[in-house]
Amino acid sequence: HLGKFEALERKNAEALLGGGQARIDAQHKKGKLTARERIDLLMDEGSFEEIGKFVMHRSKDFGLDKEYYLGDGVVTGYGTVNGRLVYVFSQDFTVFGGSLSETHAEKIVKIMDLAMKNGAPVIGLNDSGGARIQEGVVSLGGYADIFYKNTLASGVVPQLSAVMGPCAGGAVYSPAITDFILMVEDTSYMFVTGPNVVKTVTHENVTSEELGGASTHSAKSGVTHFSCANEVVCINNIKQLLSYMPQNCEETAPALPYSPEGDELRPELNNIIPENPNQPYDIRDVIHGVIDAGSFLEVHQNFAENIVVGFARLGGRSIGIVGNQPAVLAGVLDINASTKAARFVRFCDAFNIPLLVLEDVPGFLPGTDQEWRGIITNGAKLLYAFCEATVPRITVITRKAYGGAYDVMNSKHIGADMNYAWPTAEIAVMGAKGAAEIIFKREIAQAEDPETKLQEKVDEYQQKFATPYRAAHRGFVDEVIVPAQTRQKLIRALKMLENKVDTMPRKKHGNIPL
Ligand code: COA
Repeated sequence: HLGKFEALERKNAEALLGGGQARIDAQHKKGKLTARERIDLLMDEGSFEEIGKFVMHRSKDFGLDKEYYLGDGVVTGYGTVNGRLVYVFSQDFTVFGGSLSETHAEKIVKIMDLAMKNGAPVIGLNDSGGARIQEGVVSLGGYADIFYKNTLASGVVPQLSAVMGPCAGGAVYSPAITDFILMVEDTSYMFVTGPNVVKTVTHENVTSEELGGASTHSAKSGVTHFSCANEVVCINNIKQLLSYMPQNCEETAPALPYSPEGDELRPELNNIIPENPNQPYDIRDVIHGVIDAGSFLEVHQNFAENIVVGFARLGGRSIGIVGNQPAVLAGVLDINASTKAARFVRFCDAFNIPLLVLEDVPGFLPGTDQEWRGIITNGAKLLYAFCEATVPRITVITRKAYGGAYDVMNSKHIGADMNYAWPTAEIAVMGAKGAAEIIFKREIAQAEDPETKLQEKVDEYQQKFATPYRAAHRGFVDEVIVPAQTRQKLIRALKMLENKVDTMPRKKHGNIPL
């Protein structure tokens, strides 16, 4: 059978070359890796098993009957990342520009089906010129098959999308449905319609990078969760992200070994909150003061910076953190902050990752811009996301908890399990000055010296309400703790909550205000 074995060897070698050496060189010249090089970087060495290496397209139109490449522009299969099973598809730009044909789509759908049946994440490495133009509607059907599977898999297994080249038109909607998008700076872009169409329709002059590059989508639109300096950074980010996640919705994320060091007190936390309540501080200082050293992976770092979200470890366990950021817009909740945090909360809840909320929020952002763009509907997303989350939920109020935002930010009333407050907490309907001006309006106006009267009333309101004690008397706050104790309290509470079982009323699905 020597001849037959050699034939197989030749075919394997041909498949590895994709669209040929010249196109591989062109890919490298653009500063991009090939589909297979990316898989090699992602997977544990030698673990990748390819599926469908010899698949070819079935098209006959526009000369395609004379042009075939083994694999048809996408490398698919499974392997391990840090010892854990994952499924991957990696689009090969050297074959018809990575464009999506009927068979290319079938390969992707096949590994998604396997991933759902076997309960492991799907990682998509996107680099494609879009629908295979020569195939017409058959190719569009392929996209729709993928979108449908993405939706069915949502909440069943984690789905991560890296965009490492073009991703335009319909192609954008698969990453959009997945849980996290990572884009590579300068070599990737995503848009529904490209600069040429934009120019024709709206007369805007815009480059691909401006319209849909990594920096645009990480800071302006929030479409991407990570903007990565290069492909290696991007793939390392994928690996780190996976480390906080379980394999599927039936499991919990792997915990790292943790042995209490005896002293979990963090005295430096006592000095974070400024004396003046209007002075900002960086909520990341609180995060780093509480979590296991070096374990924070911030998500959506450049978008809606008035709220900070990300994964970390606490006593070895994976957690999701949502923290108001007093250093940006005083930590106010606006439309973008609400949608950013809501989506993160829902991911954590879908995949059994406990939530820690660090709260210092002066309220919702006032103004016509926010109201006309729907802060009501969008703010409700975050409220809804917390209300329906059944994972262990802990809140620490570090300073302000005002108005409706107090309710929204994982309050006891909407299902949080443990609510702590620092002695610096101010839990009230509104700030003392605003409150005094409203409720003592007449008294102040009639006073001999209105200024002094106002100050008197402000002080009175401040003393009564701008503390955590009213809430603690009611049990809305379970314990008022010294900041230095926070890490210890949280580790114990998380352990206490580790077997939490909570269910939602039976329903087809809720109707989150979208
Ligand atoms: N269908 C079929 N082939 C495609 C393709 C598509 N959608 N997109 C790219 N290709 C092919 C090109 O014909 C070229 O083939 P070749 O290697 O035989 O010359 C190869 O992929 C590389 O494309 P090229 O245009 O040379 O690369 P580029 O880096 O200069 O540009 C794009 C990349 C994606 C911007 C450009 O190819 C493009 O605009 N493609 C069409 C996008 C589109 O409108 N898609 C359909 C809507 S979803």
